[in-house]
Amino acid sequence: MKIRKAVFPVAGLGTRVLPATKAMPKEMLTIVDKPLIQYVYDEAREAGIEHFIFVTGRNKGVIEDHFDKMFELDTTLAARGNKKAEQEILARNQPEAGATSFTRQQAPLGLGHAVWCARDIVGDEPFAVVLPDELVLNDPGCLKQMIQAAEKLGGKSNLLAVEPVPDELTHQYGICGVGKRLASNMFEVDGMIEKPAKGTAPSNLSITGRYILQPEIFKILETQERGAGGEIQLTDAMIGLAKSQKFYGVEFEGERHDCGSKPGFLRANIAYGMARDDLREGLRAEMKKYLEK
Ligand code: G1P
Repeated sequence: MKIRKAVFPVAGLGTRVLPATKAMPKEMLTIVDKPLIQYVYDEAREAGIEHFIFVTGRNKGVIEDHFDKMFELDTTLAARGNKKAEQEILARNQPEAGATSFTRQQAPLGLGHAVWCARDIVGDEPFAVVLPDELVLNDPGCLKQMIQAAEKLGGKSNLLAVEPVPDELTHQYGICGVGKRLASNMFEVDGMIEKPAKGTAPSNLSITGRYILQPEIFKILETQERGAGGEIQLTDAMIGLAKSQKFYGVEFEGERHDCGSKPGFLRANIAYGMARDDLREGLRAEMKKYLEK
């Protein structure tokens, strides 16, 4: 079955990047010239997603505005006549009317709870979850790679994007164990654990912020108890679902950038700037100056 819907949990407080996120949502932090949320929306659209579900919270209204039509801007640019390039940028970034839904998490109870808040909008079909503070720079995008893998597998398959992390960092992530290999970049998941204590991780493969899940996860999330960090964890619900359905790990192509951390945010700006034909040379020259200081 086609994956038509993606859930974007955007209710987080963004405490790792304060004070930038005091009055502005983390998801509106800008990498080069686009907010994070626009990158993940574009990635989902490229992957064939048709409906974009944002699980928001207080202070996040600007995300809804970002995906709205901006009448003043459109008419002003149209009246100027010569600003076709800007008009095209706006049109390209714009979801179709009715293709977005916004629902509120109301309380910061964890990623599992955020996903559960989207249950009625997702309904009874497989869906993607995309965490907006993680960007993967690659063509095709990470979600497209996952959806292509899901289509090949068929059936009630659940897929996780995974990436190796240094052993000393496994306690910061959800980690999955590696079972039977199906391809050089895909394996059956053999156990998962959220934020394992140091030295107890079953592998160094961390769950990255891209998931394809079957709707049966919602029933499990409904009664999911709090786990690591006192939060309702998506990983714990996936452990429950893995008792009756298959989970696959996909070692995707591309580099993950954790833009919800200050070093990750800076690195992403450099990586995405260097990937742009119009900015690369100037940026390289500037960086050289700083490196020589
Ligand atoms: C969440 C997930 C975790 C995953 C991580 C990726 O954790 O719970 O399994 O590895 O995202 O960034 P968080 O970063 O919200 O603590």
